[in-house]
Amino acid sequence: MTDKIEREFLGFGLGLRTKHFEYILQHQPDIDWFEILSENYMVAGGKPRYYLQAISEQYPLVMHGVSLSIGSADPLDMDYLRALKTLANDVEPKWISDHICWTGIHGINSHDLLPLPYTMETVRHVAERISRVQDFLGRQILMENVSSYLSYQDSEMDEWTFVSEVAKASDSLILLDINNVYVSARNHGFEPMDYLNRIDPARVQQFHLAGHSDYGDYVIDTHDHDVPDSVWDLYRQALVRFGAVSTMIERDANIPEFPVLEAELGIARDIATQVLSPNQLSIADLARNRGVKSCLA
Ligand SMILES: [Fe+2]
Repeated sequence: MTDKIEREFLGFGLGLRTKHFEYILQHQPDIDWFEILSENYMVAGGKPRYYLQAISEQYPLVMHGVSLSIGSADPLDMDYLRALKTLANDVEPKWISDHICWTGIHGINSHDLLPLPYTMETVRHVAERISRVQDFLGRQILMENVSSYLSYQDSEMDEWTFVSEVAKASDSLILLDINNVYVSARNHGFEPMDYLNRIDPARVQQFHLAGHSDYGDYVIDTHDHDVPDSVWDLYRQALVRFGAVSTMIERDANIPEFPVLEAELGIARDIATQVLSPNQLSIADLARNRGVKSCLA
């Protein structure tokens, strides 16, 4: 049986990064939730799991993976899925996510999130595999749109149609990466609002925000810069379309001290406060969320 995700607004979160473990425990910053990279915690015991346990007693967590390779023609990696399920049993995340992509074939891992051809055959292939993953985990999952730098001649539909069809066919939810929409829009020459306007708000459970490297003719999704104005502008429009959606900033390289990221997350809060009504933001719910988690600890 696959449990549906409760459509809860977690507020504003950050990616949990090793260099910030100590700071978080000492200062208990006012962050609503953290997203962990699942693969970093799959070995039981050790320092990462010690910190994860301590932080999970104070903050809601979500799990984000990069190894599902949901679009590959290789069989699903059941060892990986068992490790993912074990970690989920320990962490009790609000939800689990991965990417609509493939990362390798014939057992070779490219360590890249590679785009798929947007065809109905691929929709069926990906949706069937997501359904099997959801059945195995016993819960609905979120799948994220990736940034891309190439397209396939075989594609029959736009990326937004493909993402929507996969979500519908597998009854999964969408982690909408606003930066990835912007990066792909620049690289492929489409309007980012054409993308957002065709995604069903009922399917969008989480937003990612991030920085990128802009080379003029093309943009690379590097996650090593502050969130630029162009992505903040698109985030503002995404809030208008989708309402209150749990939002987090991804920073994977050139990681600054925690207060710098906390301040950047403050910009997301400010924009959301300008765009959304207090009711939509339901600040009281956020406080309750943190409180419940503390009581359980
Ligand atoms: Fe992302």
